[in-house]
Amino acid sequence: MDFADKVVLITGASSGIGAATAIHFSKQSAKLSLIGRKENNLKKIALYCEKAKGNKPLAITADLTDDGDAKRVIDETIEHFGKLDVLVNNAGVIGMGGIKNTSMEIYDNVMATNLRSVFFLTSLATPHLIKSKGCIVNTSCIASNKPSTMTLSYNMSKAALDQFTKCVALELAPDGVRVNSINPGFVKTNLLKDIGLTEDQLELFIKNVVGNMPLKKPVETDEIAALIGFLASGNAKSITGSCYFIDGGSNLK
Ligand SMILES: NC(=O)c1ccc[n+]([C@@H]2O[C@H](COP(=O)([O-])OP(=O)(O)OC[C@H]3O[C@@H](n4cnc5c(N)ncnc54)[C@H](OP(=O)(O)O)[C@@H]3O)[C@@H](O)[C@H]2O)c1
Repeated sequence: MDFADKVVLITGASSGIGAATAIHFSKQSAKLSLIGRKENNLKKIALYCEKAKGNKPLAITADLTDDGDAKRVIDETIEHFGKLDVLVNNAGVIGMGGIKNTSMEIYDNVMATNLRSVFFLTSLATPHLIKSKGCIVNTSCIASNKPSTMTLSYNMSKAALDQFTKCVALELAPDGVRVNSINPGFVKTNLLKDIGLTEDQLELFIKNVVGNMPLKKPVETDEIAALIGFLASGNAKSITGSCYFIDGGSNLK
């Protein structure tokens, strides 16, 4: 797969799955617009990408829950590269709690980040994607399809994101724009870092999660990046409106 001359915008590129995806696309010669909140982490990934193929990414520090920042992300990308071919809506947060103990602050933050910001950024990107006959890949989660007592707002946000993928795929198909999601199972990233568990508790939590995965191993960020790369490529030209589970078999249980 070669993305030479393709402009790829990746949100949440400063860490985890988004960072691996940025590195994956940089190796395929893509022109990258990388978005994250933590400037130092974003710069590190941008430099790594630049070293891979010599293309210098545009790194934009932005909080996507802020509409002004989201608008700046699209404006600066178009101003810098002149077009947009691939939008990877990957930034996300997790919120802990069920109906008994999820604060509205947690609920609002999860929905603002995982859903509202995706809706708004995609709406801003759509005219440019129609022009380029580009595509969108959304990072959803196995949680979209599996009930949990521990992460109610997160699961709801990802279930809605899958419906967003399907509706927008249907709407934009006549414009030649494809839209898909990837739905990973557990991956070792920084996602669970701030959920309020001690290191020991987190280790035990992860051990249990991985123990419940039929393949008994976490999914790796590189595998997910490769799947996103495939869905964004011409090899997937007939695929739209699909949710691809990459979860070590977790969806089977
Ligand atoms: N890890 C898993 O097991 C797993 C499984 C299924 C799906 N996912 C999904 O994968 C996606 C990436 O998560 P990850 O696991 O790679 O976690 P991660 O390492 O914590 O990365 C999350 C990324 O999202 C960015 N982000 C969060 N809120 C943002 C905001 N308001 N504005 C801009 N950027 C924001 C973070 O930026 P900063 O770090 O710069 O703040 C970071 O780059 C998420 O959508 C998550 O739901 C993860």
